[in-house]
Amino acid sequence: MKRALLLGNSDGIGLALTRRLLAAGWQVASLSRRPCPVSGLLAHVLADAGSAEFALRLQELVAAHGPFDACVFLIGRGNDFDVTTFAGEEDVLRVNLLAAITTIRIVVPGMVLAGRGHFVGVSSLADELLLHDCPAYSASKAALSSYLNAIARPLRRRGVAVTNMRLGFVDTKMASARVRPAMVSPERAAAWVERCLITRPVQASRPRRMGVLVRLLHWLQRPGVWLRRCR
Ligand SMILES: NC(=O)c1ccc[n+]([C@@H]2O[C@H](COP(=O)([O-])OP(=O)(O)OC[C@H]3O[C@@H](n4cnc5c(N)ncnc54)[C@H](OP(=O)(O)O)[C@@H]3O)[C@@H](O)[C@H]2O)c1
Repeated sequence: MKRALLLGNSDGIGLALTRRLLAAGWQVASLSRRPCPVSGLLAHVLADAGSAEFALRLQELVAAHGPFDACVFLIGRGNDFDVTTFAGEEDVLRVNLLAAITTIRIVVPGMVLAGRGHFVGVSSLADELLLHDCPAYSASKAALSSYLNAIARPLRRRGVAVTNMRLGFVDTKMASARVRPAMVSPERAAAWVERCLITRPVQASRPRRMGVLVRLLHWLQRPGVWLRRCR
């Protein structure tokens, strides 16, 4: 029976993915700050990915229930940008980016040793945009996507797949923007992630039509055009 480690599954896409993987016969161990409201997990550890004890809690979970065939990092947070204080900006990068890299450091070496395994990082189509309302969020996802894409090649040579899963708007508490084009349900997003666990692409961008819209916005935001408009 295949074994998955999910980080960030008390809610939203992670919760929907947990239900799908259990129904498909996977064994699932997981971590988030709150309990996961699903029975039948191997284990669920409560830990804050932004805290100093996160690495230790994760190491204990991996030692007790690893090795894992797949690890999906879904932990993510946004924040409301406050231009007068810049409060909370580092926290967003600590949780969205550094905790993902800590997870890779703890989980992936075991996969390399075994010559098999799959790490999926859930990033965002916002990784190529300048989000003026939440700049730390788009910066964290840009760095996460870049990191995942960069490690994919050396790891693939060692038998380990890495997928950068870039999502558009998904109907969870995370999607707080006023306008949310092409928004999908968490179940649909979880189905895309589950599909990646079979096809193991280096990168997947969903929904596709949102990917096209983001490319256009990215082009409009290119420095030559954008900085001229900011003056
Ligand atoms: N929703 C969207 O529109 C959208 C679009 C693109 C990408 N994404 C990405 O998809 C991923 C999942 O997001 P979602 O929409 O499912 O959001 P969500 O419903 O808010 O779920 C986020 C999950 O991460 C966990 N989490 C958040 N902060 C944490 C922390 N400090 N330590 C440990 N766990 C933490 C939450 O659990 P606890 O609160 O229990 O800790 C929850 O299980 C995120 O990486 C997000 O950036 C979402």
